[in-house]
Amino acid sequence: MTWIILASLISCTAAESGNLSVISFQSDGLPSMNSFLDAGEGALPPLTQVTLCCRFRLRHGNAVVPFVSYFGGDYDNELVIGFQSFTDKMWIECCNGAVSENIPFSQLRLYVWQHMCVSLDLPAGELYLAYNGELQEHDLNIERSRIRKRLEVAGGGRLIVGQELDSIKGEFDIAQAMDGEVTDYRLYDVALTPEELVMFTSCREEEPSSLPSREPLITLDNGRLEPQGMVTNTSLVMSEICRRVYSYEILIPKKDTFNNTVIFCRKLKATVAVPKDAEENRMIFNKFQHLSPYCQGTYKALYWVGALGNLSTGGWNRVSDGEPLLWHNFSGLSRTFQRPRLACITVGNNLYPYEWWQTNCDEFTHSCAMCNFTSRPLLRLRGLCKSSLFERELYLNDYENERPKFDGMIHSQILWENSSWVMVSRLHQGLRAVMDMGVPGAYPIGLHNWSISGDKCIQKRAELLLTACSRDEYTCGEGTCISKSRNCNLITDCPDQTDELNCKIVIVPRGYSEELSPPRDTLEPLAIHFLINITSIRTFDLSAFAVAIDAIWHTKWHDSRLTFSNLQSNYQNNKVKERQKLWTPKLLVTDGTQSLVEGARVSGNLYVIRGAEPMTDNNEMTIEDDTYSGEENTLLYQQQDTLEFRCHFELRMYPFDTQTCSLTFSVQDLTHTQGVLLKDGEGVVFAGQRQLLEYKLEREAISQATVHSVSVLQVQLELRNQYRYYLANAFLPSLMLVLICCLTLCFDIEDFSDRIMVTLTSMLVLAAFFAQTSQSNPKTSYVKLIDVWYLALICGVFFIILALVYVEYIRLTPQYQYQRVNVAPTKGNSFAHKGPLPKVDSRKKAILANRVFLVIFLASISLTVVCFVVVGTVALNA
Ligand SMILES: *[C@@H]1O[C@H](CO)[C@@H](O)[C@H](O)[C@H]1NC(C)=O
Ligand SMILES: *[C@@H]1O[C@H](CO)[C@@H](O)[C@H](O)[C@H]1NC(C)=O
Ligand SMILES: *[C@@H]1O[C@H](CO)[C@@H](O)[C@H](O)[C@H]1NC(C)=O
Ligand SMILES: *[C@@H]1O[C@H](CO)[C@@H](O)[C@H](O)[C@H]1NC(C)=O
Ligand SMILES: *[C@@H]1O[C@H](CO)[C@@H](O)[C@H](O)[C@H]1NC(C)=O
Ligand SMILES: *[C@@H]1O[C@H](CO)[C@@H](O)[C@H](O)[C@H]1NC(C)=O
Repeated sequence: MTWIILASLISCTAAESGNLSVISFQSDGLPSMNSFLDAGEGALPPLTQVTLCCRFRLRHGNAVVPFVSYFGGDYDNELVIGFQSFTDKMWIECCNGAVSENIPFSQLRLYVWQHMCVSLDLPAGELYLAYNGELQEHDLNIERSRIRKRLEVAGGGRLIVGQELDSIKGEFDIAQAMDGEVTDYRLYDVALTPEELVMFTSCREEEPSSLPSREPLITLDNGRLEPQGMVTNTSLVMSEICRRVYSYEILIPKKDTFNNTVIFCRKLKATVAVPKDAEENRMIFNKFQHLSPYCQGTYKALYWVGALGNLSTGGWNRVSDGEPLLWHNFSGLSRTFQRPRLACITVGNNLYPYEWWQTNCDEFTHSCAMCNFTSRPLLRLRGLCKSSLFERELYLNDYENERPKFDGMIHSQILWENSSWVMVSRLHQGLRAVMDMGVPGAYPIGLHNWSISGDKCIQKRAELLLTACSRDEYTCGEGTCISKSRNCNLITDCPDQTDELNCKIVIVPRGYSEELSPPRDTLEPLAIHFLINITSIRTFDLSAFAVAIDAIWHTKWHDSRLTFSNLQSNYQNNKVKERQKLWTPKLLVTDGTQSLVEGARVSGNLYVIRGAEPMTDNNEMTIEDDTYSGEENTLLYQQQDTLEFRCHFELRMYPFDTQTCSLTFSVQDLTHTQGVLLKDGEGVVFAGQRQLLEYKLEREAISQATVHSVSVLQVQLELRNQYRYYLANAFLPSLMLVLICCLTLCFDIEDFSDRIMVTLTSMLVLAAFFAQTSQSNPKTSYVKLIDVWYLALICGVFFIILALVYVEYIRLTPQYQYQRVNVAPTKGNSFAHKGPLPKVDSRKKAILANRVFLVIFLASISLTVVCFVVVGTVALNA
């Protein structure tokens, strides 16, 4: 396909193949039933194959636009080829209705030449449709019951071009008439091949001679077609008809500054024109010089040229693409750009024809806008009620009363009349709308108030928006187009800043009550999805039994009563401002002690999450926002605060303890048959630091339950003590002290004062340890594991002291059973013989007792340590 188009482009520019006669229907611009070509009765022989090829340019669409309307064999649509349904379907019917095809057709373009061929091969049951070089093939659906004798177009009937014939004598319908031009019209009694159809419709230079040698049955020039009524015959060169790259200029007689002119043309999807050579300069001037009285300002200029001076190069650059200007017609010396004040260019009016001037760009210099279009500008009209007779799409087409005119596909027109803009219809008499002229010289593009009369709507005044923006763009109040995603994105993008004004997210219908929960169409309860994201544990106070967590929690649900608009993909841009007017689930949060949790009653933010494609556009509203259904898009109510609550701590195993704190969420005013809380994804997420000073968050869990016929979600936090601190700071030093005490039993048995001193000092230190530890620990009425440890150790030391005293007592006490009284003469040393023997005995006994105690104490200390290790391990793994 590409090579065909390329070839045709090349050939079209070079085409010099003589002129073609062009027939124009309704050439006076008024809808008429008396404007057609008539081939008279007996126009066609019986046909089994038929091909129609033609080139056409429509000014308006219609219910039916007929190219062939043939009445034959007593049937009014014996052969019909034309457009239907306002040119979005191709209608082909023949043979008493045995063949009747409605082929969907991408919307036709008005005002430009189109090339079409239809070939019908009835015996083969084939239909080919070629349009602008694109071929479509269709198999015919033949209705057997309507075939007369054989499948053919009956001969001898009457053929009309440009009107739809309803009887042999001529009965026409105003809604079934062609308004436009036709040329190169050929009706063959054979089915041309698909290649020939493509060749004709792709508009190639060699085409006229290379179509089949067989003569067409009917052409515009072979005398068969008789013009009737308002038909004019002109001629055009083939190259003009085959032109594919359009660009044309429209001068808007609206004086404004250069910057505003650039914006104005941009609003119409055009650029400010720059004549590229002498011929174009002349042609544009000649075409528009009659408008020069409307354009005269400080300068005797006709229009702005879309170029700006470039100080660094001394030349000019086009505004549209930044390319340097190659041709200009400045008079006199000023051929280069030197004075920054004169950076703009105007073209002289009819006092100074064809001449270019360097001009001031300031706000006091006004001239007209010459916009350069590459396609026919299509504008959309929004804000009319559904039953309004006016059309919603208009083309910027022609001039009327020296101002541009906007033409609808079929009948609507917006034109300048008696110093105001009016909208009228060619079909409906009395239908009229007049625009309020806010500013003198305003143009209807953008948002304006109109007074409407004669329409089917009750509205007499309406705010209508006329915009050249495409469907996926948003129109600012003064007409500039921005992409829809930039509307209501919290950044002003429109020059007049209207894009962030009407950013209502929720459209609340009449009769909505925020007291009522969303309706359910099934028996299923309303599903409310819940997620809590705990970002940190702020307080964990054992002695006060208090816990505080920082959390973000949300609920999600659907409310089918609502409609949303302006939804962005990032939900944080879709914040609902009038939250008070909407129903939101009121969460009740209680803790493990059944008391209300503080901080949970702060009001949160309501958002809408875009979850589905927008609903179909409603052009009754001037606002071009897409609307979204409440059923498919989710409401999100997000709250964030510090939750302060109490937790029942169980400290018997301290410091080998594990604490579980719980929070219960329920929805007020909803029983479990009306609404259930479900977890959203995980249900609970912890995004903070798990390691606290003394405790560590081991696990968080959420579970669903029904309590007193209310659906609840219970969040549980499991925290485990970091006992290693106590191992290093309490257990180990105290154990070492006790071991030292034990070791005093190994001291010299006669060194009682050292033994008792060391033990007592250890006991003092141990008691100080105990006092210090219990000060920093929560005070409970019951005994904690760590208290038991200290008590056991202090008891142990106490018993060691008793043991030491006992050993000393044994050592010093004489042994009476073995005592003998020795009577001997005292030789100065009368006491020498006394003592040694009993001393030895009691000492031996003391040493023995000492040994026994040492073993007992070491064993009991080991036993105590083992017991604690076992209890601690059991507590940790519980
Ligand atoms: C073709 O038409 C143009 C006007 O459209 C006319 O000036 C020219 O003479 C015509 N040429 C022929 C060969 O008829
Ligand atoms: C109009 O725009 C087209 C496409 O950008 C360009 O080729 C043409 O030269 C322009 N014409 C004028 C008069 O600016
Ligand atoms: C001026 O011309 C230079 C060189 O062609 C170019 O790079 C620059 O963008 C131009 N400046 C303007 C404002 O067009
Ligand atoms: C250039 O301007 C002069 C007037 O200064 C005019 O006479 C002449 O025709 C213009 N040339 C072109 C090619 O438009
Ligand atoms: C324009 O206004 C004048 C007087 O106000 C009126 O006579 C005339 O009919 C109006 N013309 C149109 C086309 O409405
Ligand atoms: C939870 O909150 C943290 C911090 O605000 C955030 O980074 C994280 O993505 C959140 N997680 C979820 C599942 O929302």
